[in-house]
Amino acid sequence: MQSVATSDNRLPGFVVLPATRRFSRYTRLAGVSGGHLARGGDGVVVLGIGCEQQRSGVIDILKPRQKLGKYRIERRLGVGGFACVYQAMDTIEGIRVALKIPRPQHLTEEVLGDFRNEVRLTAKLDHPNVLLIKDASFIEDYFVIVFQLGERTLADRLRSRLSFDVALDYAQQMLDAVAYAHSMNIMHCDIKPENFIIFPNNRLRLADFGIAKVAQRTIKGSGSGSVGFMAPEQAMGRPSMKSDVFSLGLIICRMLSGQWPEWPFSWPPPGYQQLRRKAHPDLIDFLRRAIEPNPRKRFRDAEHMLNAFRRVRPRAMRYAERRKRR
Ligand SMILES: Nc1ncnc2c1ncn2[C@@H]1O[C@H](COP(=O)(O)OP(=O)(O)OP(=O)(O)O)[C@@H](O)[C@H]1O
Ligand SMILES: [Mg+2]
Repeated sequence: MQSVATSDNRLPGFVVLPATRRFSRYTRLAGVSGGHLARGGDGVVVLGIGCEQQRSGVIDILKPRQKLGKYRIERRLGVGGFACVYQAMDTIEGIRVALKIPRPQHLTEEVLGDFRNEVRLTAKLDHPNVLLIKDASFIEDYFVIVFQLGERTLADRLRSRLSFDVALDYAQQMLDAVAYAHSMNIMHCDIKPENFIIFPNNRLRLADFGIAKVAQRTIKGSGSGSVGFMAPEQAMGRPSMKSDVFSLGLIICRMLSGQWPEWPFSWPPPGYQQLRRKAHPDLIDFLRRAIEPNPRKRFRDAEHMLNAFRRVRPRAMRYAERRKRR
C-alpha cells in the first residue's frame, strides 16, 4: 500500500480497488489494458482509468462550435475518469453551462446506472454549497448532465497562495456541504479539490456525487475514490462517513500548511512548522482529529467535524490576527 498512496499517484482517474474482486469490472469499464495496473503489498490494486486516452489526446467527444441540441460547445474544461466536461452556451436561455458527457465507449449499462445514481442523488440535494444539476437527458445518443458553470476548481486555486482567512472560509463551506450530505445520509466518497468548483464571490460548490453511496446500502467491496485523498480504510474497501471527514481534513491541512499530508499520514504532517506559526493549537488539534489514520479516533461524520470547526474558528481567527501584527 505504501507504494500507491504517494503524491505521484495523485492523477485524475485513478482508483484503488481491494484485491482483485472488482478488477475485471473496472478494466471493462475503463477500457484499459493490464499495463495500467499495479499491486501494493497487501493486495490492493491501482488502476489508471482513462489515462491512456488522456496522454494520447484521443479524448475529445465533441469539438468547439459543435452543436448538441440547444447547446453550442465552446471548450473542454476537463477530463475525468469516465467523462469529459465542456463549457457550452445554452442557445435558448442564453447562459453558459458545464456539460458532463460520459465517453460513449464507456457507457455500459453499469456506468449509465452510476451516472443515473449521480443525477438522482444530486437532484434531491438543495444547498448553497452543492453543485446543482440543471438537467440530464440523452441528446443525439450522448448522455448529457448539465451543471451550473463555475470559474475554476479548488485544485486550480491551490496552485497560487491562499490567505489564512480565505482558507478558513473555504474550509467552512466545504464542511457545510459535506455535513449537509451526511445529514441526508449520503456519503460522497470522492472528496478532492477537483470536485469543489469555485463560483463568483469565492462560493464553493461540491460536485460529483457519482460514486457516493447512500449510507444504509451495502458498501462491501467498494474501494472507489481518488488515490491521495482517500482515507486508509476507504482504500481497503471499507468507506464510511469518516472517510469523507479524512479527505476534508487533508484538504484543509493542505490549505493551511501549504503541503499535502502523505501516506501513512503519521503526525506531524509535512508543513507542520508553517502550520504552527499561524494556527491556534485548538485548530491544529481539530486537524489532527480529522486526519487520524485510525477511523475510530476521527470525528464521527462531517456534522460533528463542522460543530468542532465552528467552535475553533473564531479563536483561530483572533490568534492569526495577533500573529500577523507581531
Ligand atoms: N460545473 C463545472 N464548472 C466548471 N468546471 C467544471 C465543472 N465540472 C467539472 N469541471 C472541470 O472538469 C474537470 C473534470 O471533471 P470530472 O468530474 O469529469 O472529473 P474529476 O472530478 O477531475 O475526476 P473524477 O473522474 O474522479 O470525477 C474538473 O476537474 C474541472 O476542471
Ligand atoms: Mg469531478
